[in-house]
Amino acid sequence: MTTGTDCRGLAITAASDEAVAGFDRTVGAYLGLRMDTGDHLKATLEADPSFVMANVLRGYFMLLFASRKLLGRALSSLEAARGAAGEGGCNRREELHIQALDAWASGDQKRALAVWDAILTEWPRDVLALKLSEYWNFYLGDCRGMREVQARVGPHWDESVPDYGKVLGMSAFALEECGAYDEAERRGRRAIEIDPADIWATHAVAHVMEMTGRQRDGIAWIDGKAADFDGCNAFANHLWWHRALFYFELGRFDAVLDLYDREVLPSEAFEYLDICNAVSILWRLEEEGVDVDDRWGRVADAAAERADDLQLVFTDVHYAMAFAAAERKDALDALIAGAEAFAQTAEGTQSAIMAEYGLALCRAAAASRSEDWETAVDLLYPRRRGVAAIGGSHAQRDLFRRALIHAAENAGRDRLASSLLAERCEEKATSPIALKRYARVLSALGEADAADAAAARAASLVQ
Ligand SMILES: [Fe+2]
Repeated sequence: MTTGTDCRGLAITAASDEAVAGFDRTVGAYLGLRMDTGDHLKATLEADPSFVMANVLRGYFMLLFASRKLLGRALSSLEAARGAAGEGGCNRREELHIQALDAWASGDQKRALAVWDAILTEWPRDVLALKLSEYWNFYLGDCRGMREVQARVGPHWDESVPDYGKVLGMSAFALEECGAYDEAERRGRRAIEIDPADIWATHAVAHVMEMTGRQRDGIAWIDGKAADFDGCNAFANHLWWHRALFYFELGRFDAVLDLYDREVLPSEAFEYLDICNAVSILWRLEEEGVDVDDRWGRVADAAAERADDLQLVFTDVHYAMAFAAAERKDALDALIAGAEAFAQTAEGTQSAIMAEYGLALCRAAAASRSEDWETAVDLLYPRRRGVAAIGGSHAQRDLFRRALIHAAENAGRDRLASSLLAERCEEKATSPIALKRYARVLSALGEADAADAAAARAASLVQ
């Protein structure tokens, strides 16, 4: 076994330079969310089956699918990495990656984050630890954590380091989630200058446009970048979701449904994010009174394949919503029963989040679909801020905020609905959908002048 260096100068244990080059290509493809990532990894492992970091990476990739069915493969990769390290040796950084994979595979994502943090303190150019740290800070709703990690490694990166642009893109997303929109957009656009196909940076800029209510800019932005998504993995579908969301805000529901059918929910096998995107669109449309026809059936079928995953509370909640909306009571009851048992295990990171937030969100979905609006409000209102713990972006979790407002209005709690809408309209001052609803609630409260002003503002935004 020899020791070489990766493309960023980090010591790495591998059998050959060819294997290290393959590893670099794999990490680069992963950062670019490219479809050929798995092919590069396969070639790397063929060049060196005992490559510690390549086996660790395979384990990480298996876990990134957030599928219970792939846990076994993640564990076998962990064993392969350990075996290779035992036979040929490995360095301290590689040993820490094995520990992080072990922690994640056993459901302790906070421990995995602590290990990546330790790696980045010593080796701030370990871009794999950086990307995975971003992933788990994101799915634990810790946007400040995302931003801090980026800030700490930032001084160790510049244009001369391979994949600097990808780090800028990560930094852009962290800043966006923390509300630093101008700097987020600046860094995102710079990342795209470096690599026009950088879909993660493109996504970060789209988020800036979403959060600042620039719907038309957002549509033009994604349309202008669409040709660069060729060769990207299913994450491209999430960009289509963003574009549909811009149309949604403008009240262009026909366009949303058209995009949904053509781009948001592909015909092939679904990733968990595809299901979340689909649920998120259809649920919002129905709250606005749009007939989504029989579209829930396909989403519920896809969710049924993954209903016992319990890997990410964020996705479990979306699966529950699909079952509730498709009136699959047995599937919903089974998912909630499984989630209850999982929450009681008190093992790992996600079970506590399920206990505190996930179960309530699943039950709120069930209550909403059976028009038990009071129960839905009682479940959602006390958790409206803490719900960030289930992860996802502000734009994604807006689903639960809208659901609370919708439930409050339907429960006849117009004062609460108007308070929540006042809050929302201040934060997203250019959201025609929210303003229209605000106008309706104000009208129900007899506040005619304020209702007219909100309606006029909404109309001016969609002209
Ligand atoms: Fe997004």
